[in-house]
Amino acid sequence: MLNRLLGRGRKNFNVTVEPFGKTLSVGKGETILQAALRSGLAYPSECRAGACASCKTKLVDGKIKPLTDFAYVLDVDDIKSGTFLACQSLARSDLTIRVDSLGDGLKPIKPNVFAGEISELNYLTHDIQEVIVSLDGEMDYYAGQYANLTVPGITDSRSYSFASAPEVGSNTVIKFHIRMVPGGEVSAWLGSGACRGKAIQVEGPFGVFGIRESLSPIVCIAGGSGMAPILSILEQGLLVKIKRPVVYLYGARTQADLYGESLISDIRKHWSSSFRFTPILSEELDESNWDGARGLVTDHIKQIDDFDLQGAQAYLCGPPVMIDAAIPILNNCGVRGRDIFYDKFIDRSHSPEILS
Ligand SMILES: Cc1cc2nc3c(=O)[nH]c(=O)nc-3n(C[C@H](O)[C@H](O)[C@H](O)COP(=O)(O)OP(=O)(O)OC[C@H]3O[C@@H](n4cnc5c(N)ncnc54)[C@H](O)[C@@H]3O)c2cc1C
Ligand code: FES
Repeated sequence: MLNRLLGRGRKNFNVTVEPFGKTLSVGKGETILQAALRSGLAYPSECRAGACASCKTKLVDGKIKPLTDFAYVLDVDDIKSGTFLACQSLARSDLTIRVDSLGDGLKPIKPNVFAGEISELNYLTHDIQEVIVSLDGEMDYYAGQYANLTVPGITDSRSYSFASAPEVGSNTVIKFHIRMVPGGEVSAWLGSGACRGKAIQVEGPFGVFGIRESLSPIVCIAGGSGMAPILSILEQGLLVKIKRPVVYLYGARTQADLYGESLISDIRKHWSSSFRFTPILSEELDESNWDGARGLVTDHIKQIDDFDLQGAQAYLCGPPVMIDAAIPILNNCGVRGRDIFYDKFIDRSHSPEILS
């Protein structure tokens, strides 16, 4: 009797998923994400291994069983408020859950597989390329999302963020900024001119990083090719004429690693509120002609003047170590955990046990 009351021994549980308004049957040993995808829901997900936070979900009612520790990708506030990873959770009772979608009124877009061709390569710095891909169809996405690229001869796909805002009605050409990672297989291939004109597979869109509707000021923090999704969401903000002050801190090693300044400057000129862009160099020689900011991008968060971080929304993108360091500083400056959005550019060196 007690077992039945606690749901023990039951093979399936009913899980109601908001905002889809759909109830799924989740089998024994099946993750909530597996059940959602099996039933055809466009549930946000990517790594399916507890590493990317795309499947972040709010538990409204019921009990789940976590398969891994969520603390690596979710912050303490998230976990305390009942947020969990659907790809790493089993149902322990009937549940009501809510997908942390892209924001009010934005519905997840069902990912599709496209045939792509690399149509153009442009050097942005000595180790970051703009890679332009023509698709055999239109790919809908939200600014801030990413796609998975599979290149010839390498089985596993890699994730790359869209580097520009989606253009309504003409999304057959998409852009990425790809940093050539030392020892990296896919980025090395994409960085070599040999990939020009070659066929690749593009699957997407994925991810829940993207601008949330609000009137709050915006602080953007990016490092390296983390510039890409930030450019995409700022371009989107410009297109929809949002009137929110922006401070953008961008970290690079030296002047040779800086890029995107003219695009940012164009956005700033037309932005409907104040807009400040601060590039920060961590390894520029003391004796160089650089008279801008120096140090780590995170050293500069507390020094942001004339901008109220209290109540701001933060958008972070780039190396996981930068994001992990920035979150507690932002919290100390009054930015709430639920107002911090990020995409960590996790690669196989970060969690080989999960991703290899
Ligand atoms: C959501 C998301 C969005 C991203 N967006 C971008 C983007 O816009 N631009 C961008 O440049 N990158 C982005 N990335 C990173 C990108 O997906 C790739 O991880 C990156 O390009 C490296 O891929 P690679 O094939 O070149 O390197 P890999 O071959 O995957 O190797 C990466 C590193 O890991 C090491 N390594 C390989 N295997 C192992 C192992 N088993 N154990 C330990 N170390 C190992 C390699 O030596 C190398 O240093 C994003 C990642 C995520 C998750
Ligand atoms: S899909 Fe669940 S954490 Fe990546």
